[in-house]
Amino acid sequence: MAAKDLPAVSVHTARPGEAVPPPGDADLTHARATDPDGVFVATDTEGRVLGTASAAVREDTLLLLALDVAAARRGKGVGRTLLAAARAYGAARGTRSLEVLAPDEPSALAFFLSAGLSVRTLVLGMEAGEAPSDPSAPVRGAPLAPVGPGAPLTGWIAALDRETRGFARPRDWGRLAADGHVVSLKRGGRPVAIGAWQDDASGTATALGPIAAKTPEAAADLLPLLAARSPGKRLSLALPAEARMLFLAAGALGFRAVSTRVLLADRRRGDLRRYAGGSGRLF
Ligand SMILES: CC(C)(COP(=O)(O)OP(=O)(O)OC[C@H]1O[C@@H](n2cnc3c(N)ncnc32)[C@H](O)[C@@H]1OP(=O)(O)O)[C@@H](O)C(=O)NCCC(=O)NCCS
Repeated sequence: MAAKDLPAVSVHTARPGEAVPPPGDADLTHARATDPDGVFVATDTEGRVLGTASAAVREDTLLLLALDVAAARRGKGVGRTLLAAARAYGAARGTRSLEVLAPDEPSALAFFLSAGLSVRTLVLGMEAGEAPSDPSAPVRGAPLAPVGPGAPLTGWIAALDRETRGFARPRDWGRLAADGHVVSLKRGGRPVAIGAWQDDASGTATALGPIAAKTPEAAADLLPLLAARSPGKRLSLALPAEARMLFLAAGALGFRAVSTRVLLADRRRGDLRRYAGGSGRLF
């Protein structure tokens, strides 16, 4: 692209109260609360908004939660400038990697690939009309233990969480636990899977997950129990492509695939196969 085509872009950290779309997204609202300096606005010389970006630091990873350039201003370096601002924010806070869940859309993928990220997995969005509410269903009444906000994520859960972080959405276990929305499935008194859920503002829909489990089987066992907590509500779920057993469990509950997104990262971490019990299946 010729230099003369490039607009003069300046980027500032969003000011308190400055509207940065999309409003009403719980993850973005939370990210802005925890990372007020991780929200960026790109403007032209007249102060018109060209694009915005939102990023949040989670341990040593910077999660890019949103990046949006006005349709008429794409392909002119605005996205690259916003991404650079987000990366500088992460670097200043000691992050070592960048993760983003992007739409399965060629220009977004080309953008991130050109920025040095690699595809880590496909993420399938699934929806079910409503949660199972048959009182005789075997999943009803199964004991799920609440996981409180103070509960440490130790042992395999911490390792798993570290290695799978960013699979679907930011793994803000702490926030979900503070809301009372994390439960564990125990076998022999020990947790084998933990899962969370979030209700939407209207109270009619629930997003299930994330689920972290010791084995694919434990994750698949937990899913119907999580779903049964929200009888009568529309349910959604995001599954990484490797989650074959969870995918089958979701299908049995009436979930159908409705969207695909792509998880990209600039650094590979962990080897999820060691959680797959040697069968090559991941949860
Ligand atoms: C993805 C998005 C943010 C990119 O912003 P942008 O301002 O258009 O991107 P830039 O102009 O900075 O592009 C930087 C580089 O990305 C690559 N790129 C961007 N768009 C591309 C396309 N359509 N095809 C191929 N490469 C592309 C190019 O390598 C480009 O460098 P170049 O212009 O020197 O060739 C923008 O398209 C967008 O807002 N999309 C909708 C929302 C979205 O998908 N957001 C990402 C998920 S959070």
